Amino acid sequence: MSGPRDQFQRPLRDLRISVTDRCNFRCPYCMPKEVFGPGHAFLRDPQLMTLGELTRIARAFTTLGVEKIRLTGGEPLLRPDVPDLVRALKQELNIQDVALTTNGWLLEKLAPALHAAGLDRVNVSVDSLDDATAGKMNGLGFSVARVLRGIDAAAALGLPVKINCVIQRGVNDGELLTLCQYFRERGHALRFIEFMDVGNTNHWAAAQVVPARELVARIAAEWPLESVGPAYRGEVAARYRYADGRGEIGLISSVTEPFCRDCHRARLSADGKLYTCLFAALGWDVLGCLRAGADDVELANYLNRIWRGREDRYSEERAGLLAAGESRPKIEMSYIGG
Ligand code: GTP
Ligand code: 5AD
Ligand code: SF4
Ligand code: SF4
Repeated sequence: MSGPRDQFQRPLRDLRISVTDRCNFRCPYCMPKEVFGPGHAFLRDPQLMTLGELTRIARAFTTLGVEKIRLTGGEPLLRPDVPDLVRALKQELNIQDVALTTNGWLLEKLAPALHAAGLDRVNVSVDSLDDATAGKMNGLGFSVARVLRGIDAAAALGLPVKINCVIQRGVNDGELLTLCQYFRERGHALRFIEFMDVGNTNHWAAAQVVPARELVARIAAEWPLESVGPAYRGEVAARYRYADGRGEIGLISSVTEPFCRDCHRARLSADGKLYTCLFAALGWDVLGCLRAGADDVELANYLNRIWRGREDRYSEERAGLLAAGESRPKIEMSYIGG
């Protein structure tokens, strides 16, 4: 395989691009509203990458081996030129897999434009099917019905949909089986993400993490499950299918069973900084390099050097750091995109 290897021999395959740090939700585990209130300084022009800059940077990444690009945020659909970006990634850069992670609020409206632009698939967050709990978990009391309509609209166009669900003990863990039932009836893979200590403000507590293994046991007690191998090397979610053949789930167990060993993801923030880990504190100023006049080869060389030096494995180090009472400053998840 071509392309650079990092200090642990990991290649670079996926690029996650945050197109905006803004969001129309205020999930307490990600953007608590007391922190991300009216006084919060979000990025603004000219800090944000333009469509042209995004495309040039993405092109440089393809020369290093990137074959999969995911658009995230904040909430990526708040940015009006996202369908144009999808079109550029598909048609100009020929990226095999262009995906989007969204909270689904604007999906019903935008699914046709995204589909027409060539989007390959979409992952939508749904933490609860109950309006009271959903409203609490999106921080603003929004009903889940509109998100579910967005999912139906995307699926009706033929877009493969996966659902992301963060389970927090004492908040939505009672809904586990209801969520499984709803999404398997509709043929969407449901992935449970362990509540993570991303950023510095989400009041993370180990006691609120429901270990993936416990979730699997609870679901399997109702509907037997069979483990399935990864769809591709380094897949974040461990997959299981229902033994009755009706549907599949995934477990993203960053806290209890870290998967850094196969981590081949780079993250680009909306202001064009490259982060080599979700839990990084410092990013590399790729946009600054481009705006200073770097040509395509210089840009690719810059990225190449960064990737070769990479030694991140935060999730594998977390337990040791916590035991030692150490904490590091980290970037916020809404800024870097899950
Ligand atoms: P697929 O390509 O559909 O498998 O997508 P994905 O699981 O890589 O993307 P998605 O944005 O849906 O990711 C789901 C969640 O998994 C993210 O939002 C994060 O919470 C978590 N996640 C993804 N990648 C990483 C990673 O590299 N490290 C950690 N710790 N968590 C990750
Ligand atoms: N822990 C786990 N998942 C999180 N997400 C956001 N914040 C956290 C957190 N602290 C998830 C969202 C979405 C995905 C992009 O990241 O729910 O599904
Ligand atoms: Fe917005 Fe997603 Fe963060 Fe919720 S998890 S606040 S929807 S970016
Ligand atoms: Fe990759 Fe960092 Fe997540 Fe480990 S913690 S899987 S290195 S992003």
